[in-house]
Amino acid sequence: MKLKINGKLQDKPAVWWDKATNAVQMIDQTKLPFSVEIYTCPTYRETAFAVKKMIIRGAPSIGAAAAYGLAQAVHEFWESDSFEDSIKVAYDELLSARPTAVDLKNGLDFIRSTDPFTPENVVAQASLFAKRTADQGLKIGQIGKELITNNMNILTHCHTGALALVDHGSALAPIIQAWQDGKRFHVFVDETRPRFQGRITAWELSQYGIDHTVICDSMSGFFMSRGEIDLVILGADRVTRNGDIANKIGTYNLAILAQYHNIPFYTAFPTSTFDPSTKSGKDIEIEKRNDSELKIVEGISNIQKKSDSISIFPDFVKFKNPAFDVTPNKLITGYITPYGILTNTQLVTFCQ
Ligand code: MRU
Repeated sequence: MKLKINGKLQDKPAVWWDKATNAVQMIDQTKLPFSVEIYTCPTYRETAFAVKKMIIRGAPSIGAAAAYGLAQAVHEFWESDSFEDSIKVAYDELLSARPTAVDLKNGLDFIRSTDPFTPENVVAQASLFAKRTADQGLKIGQIGKELITNNMNILTHCHTGALALVDHGSALAPIIQAWQDGKRFHVFVDETRPRFQGRITAWELSQYGIDHTVICDSMSGFFMSRGEIDLVILGADRVTRNGDIANKIGTYNLAILAQYHNIPFYTAFPTSTFDPSTKSGKDIEIEKRNDSELKIVEGISNIQKKSDSISIFPDFVKFKNPAFDVTPNKLITGYITPYGILTNTQLVTFCQ
């Protein structure tokens, strides 16, 4: 995507390999929407840290970051006597950075399958993984844009644009491409507590001049009940064999509301998000993130240039913070994939 970095317009994916230094570089998503900055990870450890801290986020993008991270480990330990053991440690560290998105495992296993397993080849393999993900985003956009017609009101949740998918986006790709084709409509953007990914969605939509409004997550029922939402499109962090999806917390609420109001509910994702080895959503590990994400608002220095965080609750308050929920296949109208808009029973045939 086109980004203005240090005053210069540049074409950048969400994450890439820097040949000169063997570093993994990425757009620092914790600084958006107020500033566009590059974050550099000199070793696989910093890459794992960046995934854990959501400096890079979005299931397909963290899959690509993990793939590049393992390539870094191969470079670092190539001459070492304990090469295989060190690669295993790096694999486990990268994999455990975030547990719900299956893209991490798929990215790492794609690197593991490199033959011959050499430093040059693993970097090429990681770049291939990232490119394949980005290309699939483009295809998802071409396929999914047919669902969008003039004057629609579309609701989306979390962030599924170019930065979440290496490039082009998953659920945002159909929206962006339909707008570029000249269709005119409006997008409701859930703010997506507690990490406010809606801010990145609003920022990406504004890059294309797409008409949008940000709402609190709890407002969607209100707008649905008044007939003001025609279509829901969102992403997925893991799609199981039977078509259940884990996606950003709040997705399940939306799916139930959409069904109650007869609103079509679509999920869009690349093949790296499909997990045929997990039977159903019940078997997905849900990431539990730190309570501080509810209690403390971070990144204030980006706005005010003062202290960086502020607590909005007293210390005695207790929290729970599951990062994702599971939506059963029966609440999903269709799956927008690079192979077409599928039903849950078609996923295994096309996305494996
Ligand atoms: O926790 P995040 O921000 O990494 O969440 C992942 C997501 O962006 C969403 O759940 C999204 O819908 C799927 S990834 C394109």
